[in-house]
Amino acid sequence: MKASLALVVLPLVSASPTWQRPQRNQTYPGLDVLAKRAGLLYFGTAIDNVVLDNEQYTSIAHNRAEFGQVTPSNGQKWMHIEPQRNVFNYTLGDQVSEPGKAAGQLRRCHTFVWHNQLPTWLTQTTWSKDELIAILENHIRNEARHYYDECYAWDVVNEAFNDDGTWRDTLWLRTIGKEYIALAFQFARKYVSPRTRLYYNDYNIEKVNNKSLAVEALVTDFLGRDVPVPIDGVGLQAHFVTGRTQRYNQTVAALKLFTQHGLETALTELDVRTVLPDLPEKQEQQAADYTNSVQACVDVEGCVGVTVWDFWDPVSWVPETFPGEGNALLWDAGFVKKVAYYRVSDMLRGYA
Ligand SMILES: *[C@@H]1O[C@H](CO)[C@@H](O)[C@H](O)[C@H]1NC(C)=O
Ligand SMILES: *[C@@H]1O[C@H](CO)[C@@H](O)[C@H](O)[C@H]1NC(C)=O
Ligand SMILES: *[C@@H]1O[C@H](CO)[C@@H](O)[C@H](O)[C@H]1NC(C)=O
Ligand SMILES: *[C@@H]1O[C@H](CO)[C@@H](O)[C@H](O)[C@H]1NC(C)=O
Repeated sequence: MKASLALVVLPLVSASPTWQRPQRNQTYPGLDVLAKRAGLLYFGTAIDNVVLDNEQYTSIAHNRAEFGQVTPSNGQKWMHIEPQRNVFNYTLGDQVSEPGKAAGQLRRCHTFVWHNQLPTWLTQTTWSKDELIAILENHIRNEARHYYDECYAWDVVNEAFNDDGTWRDTLWLRTIGKEYIALAFQFARKYVSPRTRLYYNDYNIEKVNNKSLAVEALVTDFLGRDVPVPIDGVGLQAHFVTGRTQRYNQTVAALKLFTQHGLETALTELDVRTVLPDLPEKQEQQAADYTNSVQACVDVEGCVGVTVWDFWDPVSWVPETFPGEGNALLWDAGFVKKVAYYRVSDMLRGYA
């Protein structure tokens, strides 16, 4: 469905006249190299299956100097992993995780429980509570067997809250009730390697607001129970808009909502989309938005890494989802690094 996007040539924007593209490679050794020097565990990227036949794409995606961690954008979603009941298919997930492992990149697994990209066998049947719990456990048990020790972290539950902080109305909530999140974490802890960090992951929680406070309430509930629900981290997706991105101190405050409870955090899906047409001044603003976001993670003890939600503009999810917006990533359609790439590098180098 996204294959045609790879053929779209986005308009190239010339850099502002005052700014020259740097050439010195020793200054720009790669984002992961610099992120590690700045104290992060990794700088990573999501990888899309639809462009794996593009060698220019894969040579950057699996260049460990740039990316020390990879996440399959879509390949581990339920519709691909269990397309028919109790029939499991790891092809798309493996296409990202195996080359990542070979390249020495950490992997993040994404995701066990979400309300989107579910197979029709699951959504078009009315299940009893017990049936759906059994389906959930069976899914997690099988996938955890396959990727048992492969992933540094696993997004166990994705996007369970609405922006106003109420619980999102999903198949899981309607059928199982609020306990579905705790059950998913308990199943994950039972079947996934004890070394793998189990994460809750969501968007629009990158500042202190009703939604991030609802997630904080969930984790304090989990940690405060007589038998705590096993959760290790909260992922802040960080899908931002040029000029409307959270300020540095807002992101810092949001990260601390979770680290204050001893959880680790990460920015898991960072991108900064621009209302087209793009312009040099918008690229500068986008670069500042990227830089402030990455720097917030660097500055908060317990924020372990940043993952961009792909790095090459033509495969971004943005143009399809937000018509009229795009150019959200660090490499343009011609595989040229954008201003934001160099600004993030420069900021990270300041910590070395
Ligand atoms: C820097 O140059 C080396 C050697 O040419 C190359 O292997 C490496 O990938 C380059 N790093 C980046 C980030 O381009
Ligand atoms: C598994 O998924 C891949 C990728 O979607 C597909 O090409 C293949 O036919 C599937 N395998 C089976 C046995 O359905
Ligand atoms: C935040 O939640 C409070 C009640 O907890 C509610 O009064 C308020 O309208 C909510 N704000 C937003 C922006 O949803
Ligand atoms: C962030 O800084 C701005 C301006 O300096 C200030 O108005 C705001 O209250 C701060 N927010 C937080 C969460 O500290």
